[in-house]
Amino acid sequence: MKTSRIPGFYNMTVEDRRKTIAKLYALPEEQVDYLFSTEPLKTGTADKMIENVIGTFPLPLGLGLNFLINDKDYAVPMAIEEASVVASASYIAKIARSAGGFKTEATERIMIGQIQVVGCPDMHAAKQAILNEKAELLEVANAAYPSIAARGGGAEGLDVRILNESSESTFSQMLVVHLYVDTCDAMGANIINTMVEALAPTVEKLTGGKVYLRILSNYADRCLARATCSIPPHLLESEGFSGEEVRDGVIQAYQFAASDPYRAVTHNKGIMNGIDPIVIATGNDWRAVEAGAHAYAARNGHYGSMTTWSVDEKGNLRGELELPMSIGTVGGATRVHPMAKLALDILGNPSASELAQVMVAVGLAQNLGALKALVTDGIQKGHMALHSRSVAIAAGATGEMIDIVAEKLVQLKEVRVGKAEEILVGCKNDC
Ligand code: MEV
Repeated sequence: MKTSRIPGFYNMTVEDRRKTIAKLYALPEEQVDYLFSTEPLKTGTADKMIENVIGTFPLPLGLGLNFLINDKDYAVPMAIEEASVVASASYIAKIARSAGGFKTEATERIMIGQIQVVGCPDMHAAKQAILNEKAELLEVANAAYPSIAARGGGAEGLDVRILNESSESTFSQMLVVHLYVDTCDAMGANIINTMVEALAPTVEKLTGGKVYLRILSNYADRCLARATCSIPPHLLESEGFSGEEVRDGVIQAYQFAASDPYRAVTHNKGIMNGIDPIVIATGNDWRAVEAGAHAYAARNGHYGSMTTWSVDEKGNLRGELELPMSIGTVGGATRVHPMAKLALDILGNPSASELAQVMVAVGLAQNLGALKALVTDGIQKGHMALHSRSVAIAAGATGEMIDIVAEKLVQLKEVRVGKAEEILVGCKNDC
C-alpha cells in the first residue's frame, strides 16, 4: 500500500518532494512531466476551456499527508493560497491515524434536475398527469443521454411538487418536476441539463402549462458523503492543555457554531478550507460544492454547524461531517486540466464516491485543526510560525537560513519581508 506518512516531507525542497511523490506513487511518465512542468496547463488548452483567455492562474498545490480513511492511506492534493491549511490538515490526520483514522461512507450518487412549470389550468391534475407518465418520461430522459445508461446510471425516478399553491399571485404558483439521475462518476451537470431540456415539451403537453427553468439543482441531498472520527483525549493534549480540556473546548466551540450563524459561517469556512482545495485540485466545480454545503447546513431551518462534535461513552471526542458532494472524477476539467489528472493519480484514481468521502474526511480534520488551535493558543501562533517561513523565503533566505530567519521573526513579533531582509544582512555580516 502507498503510504501517506512521509516523515521529513515538510523540510524537503520542492524538487525533492516532487521526486519523492513520483517514486512513491509510481506516477506515469506523463504525470511526472506535469509535476515538473512550469506551465502544465498550456495557454492553448486554457483558451479552449473558457472565453477571452489572457493567461492561466496557478495556485500552490500541497499534499495533505497522514490521511488514513477506511484503513486506506491517502496523500491528498490541495490547491490553496492560504498558509497553515495543509499543515493543519496533515497534523490532525496524524493524530487521527493513531486512533484508527477516519471512517467514511456515502449514499448513492443521485443528482437532481428541476423543471419549473407555470400557468397550469389545474395544478393537481397536471401533477397527476406527470406521475401517470413517469415511465415514459424517464425513457425520454434516458434517450436524451444514452451513454449514462450504458455506464450503469441514468434517470431513475421523478417527483412533482406544487409551490405556493395558496398564493394569489400568478407569478408564484408553480409546479416543479424533480428528475432523479444516477450520474455514476460524473458530476452530472451536462447529463441532467440535457435530460431536463429534452423533457420540457412532453411536460408542457401533459400539464397544459409553460416550462421556464430546466436546470440541475446544486442542492445534492441525495448524493451525500459522511466522515466520522473518534479520538481519545490523550492524543489531543497540547502544551499547557490537557486532552480533556481540548476535547471539551472543541465541543463548546461546536455548540457556539451550532447556535449562532455569525460563528457558524466562520466555522464552516474552516471546514471548506479543507474541502475546496481538493475540489479545485481535482478540477471540480467548487461553487457547486460550496452552495450545496451551506444550504445543507441550513436544512433544519436555521444556518448552523456542518460538523457535530460530542463525547462518546469512552470519553473520546467524536466528530461527524455529512455534506452533499456534487463532484465527479470523469468529464469536465477533471480530465482536461493536467494537474487535475495528476491529482487524481496521486489519489489512486478514485471513483466519485470515494473522492467525495476523502473530501469530507479532510473537511472534518480541518475543522478539528481550527477548533483545537482556537480553544488553546489561538490560531495566530501556528499561523505566524508558518507564515514566517514564507516571509523568510521571500526575503531571499535559503537552506538552513529559512528556519533561523523565521524563528527570529516570530521572536521579534515582526513577521514582514523588510525585517527578514535586515536579519539576513545581519547574519551575513556576522559570518
Ligand atoms: C481561517 O481560514 C479559518 C478559521 O477561521 C476557521 C474557524 O474559525 O473555525 C480558523
